[in-house]
Amino acid sequence: MKWIFIFLGSVFIPFVEARESSLESWIQIEKQVSIERMFLNISPPDAMKGVVIASPSRYSPDYRYHWTRDASLVMDQVVWLYQKSSVDSEKYLSALKNFISLSLYQQQTPSAEGLGEPRYLINGIADTTPWARPQYDGPALRIQTLIHFLKQLKNENFGIQSEAQKVIKADLEFVIMNWRKPCFDLWEELKGLHFYTQAVQYAALISAAEYFKEFGDLDFSIKLTKESIEVKNELDKYWDEFRGYIGASRDLEIRDSNPRYKESNLDVSVILGLLHGQNHSYLSFLDDRLMATAHAIEIAFAREYRINQQVTTVAIGRFTDDVYYGGNPWYITTAAFAELYYRIGNAYKNEGALVVTKNNIAFLEAVLSNEKLSLGQKILSSTHLGLRILSGLHQKGDNFLLIVRKYVGSQGEMAEQFDRNAGVPVSAYDLTWSYASFLAAINFYN
Ligand code: NOJ
Ligand code: NOJ
Repeated sequence: MKWIFIFLGSVFIPFVEARESSLESWIQIEKQVSIERMFLNISPPDAMKGVVIASPSRYSPDYRYHWTRDASLVMDQVVWLYQKSSVDSEKYLSALKNFISLSLYQQQTPSAEGLGEPRYLINGIADTTPWARPQYDGPALRIQTLIHFLKQLKNENFGIQSEAQKVIKADLEFVIMNWRKPCFDLWEELKGLHFYTQAVQYAALISAAEYFKEFGDLDFSIKLTKESIEVKNELDKYWDEFRGYIGASRDLEIRDSNPRYKESNLDVSVILGLLHGQNHSYLSFLDDRLMATAHAIEIAFAREYRINQQVTTVAIGRFTDDVYYGGNPWYITTAAFAELYYRIGNAYKNEGALVVTKNNIAFLEAVLSNEKLSLGQKILSSTHLGLRILSGLHQKGDNFLLIVRKYVGSQGEMAEQFDRNAGVPVSAYDLTWSYASFLAAINFYN
């Protein structure tokens, strides 16, 4: 066995040993690896301050760009780190300040699609190469990250506050103007209406309504709430009663070269759209439509990859007919499933009860290792059965993290994808969002 040592603070920890130790201690080590590697991609030396490169990879693929989506999700993890620490908080605070200044600059720089521009060069200006644009999720994600930050801001800092509010207001205006319009999905593939995009737009409107209400701007808050109700009505239309899951898109453009592409409309983006709604998700994590969708995704991916044969918890990709870099499982989507199970468990603990329905029965039975349940059965979380569901949910979350642990590189590094047959990291190396998605999942590990 090869021993690889990674340097963490003042102790050397053999990574291979960490990988074979308890999940708990691996999480602690992987957390440090993720923070370190994530920060290498935030304001790298040759970029404008505040830029978050998606990955240092320059070719196959070239990811040295600042995507608003990736950057906002990454910076949200910096907010979490800021919120939880005191030791490093200067470092986190200055990264967040830079992100806000950069965002203000980018909002004012010319671009073909206004704030619907998905990515910027590392010098801060908008990308002009042919690309899947517009994409409308970025501003919504940035609103949520910045509101999350403003709520955590430890010292009164009016400078930061007013700069962040300017960014938020411009993003809100853009969301209000555009949420009804078709755009490219977060995977940058086809134009249409997308659950992911509208789910994060909804959450952005709600969190802003709440924030501006607390801030005393009642009229604005009411306007935002009204708008969010309309988005919610649109979101309700994605549930596919016949297929039994929430569909990813509506009015999707057809790909000429493959008219059946994405025909199942089953896509992990639905789960991401709920997770990325922070505390203002369109659905409760106990909603049976969410459970139905999660279950359908797991079943679909179980059949998909060689590395998923003969295992009980499976590696997750974007959608099953994905062909990008061979169509593999991704770290962000597998980590998202860990986060999902932890959050369902937390919601169950908080709400105290659930009812077995035709939509959630298969999901819940799988959580109980195929024990049979009956429709209409109400299960309190404090009962023996309820406690077994809670521990089953936690175990599932752990199992997804164990998959991540199995397929990270020899020093804990995460690329964009891991090979469906060989399980080795592929496509963009050190994908910033992969580290952020792992940190997002462990925020809910307890
Ligand atoms: C690059 C995008 O970033 C990726 O998500 C997509 O799958 C490919 N282009 C193909 O459209
Ligand atoms: C491709 C992904 O599909 C997209 O969501 C992401 O923004 C870019 N890669 C950059 O990581």
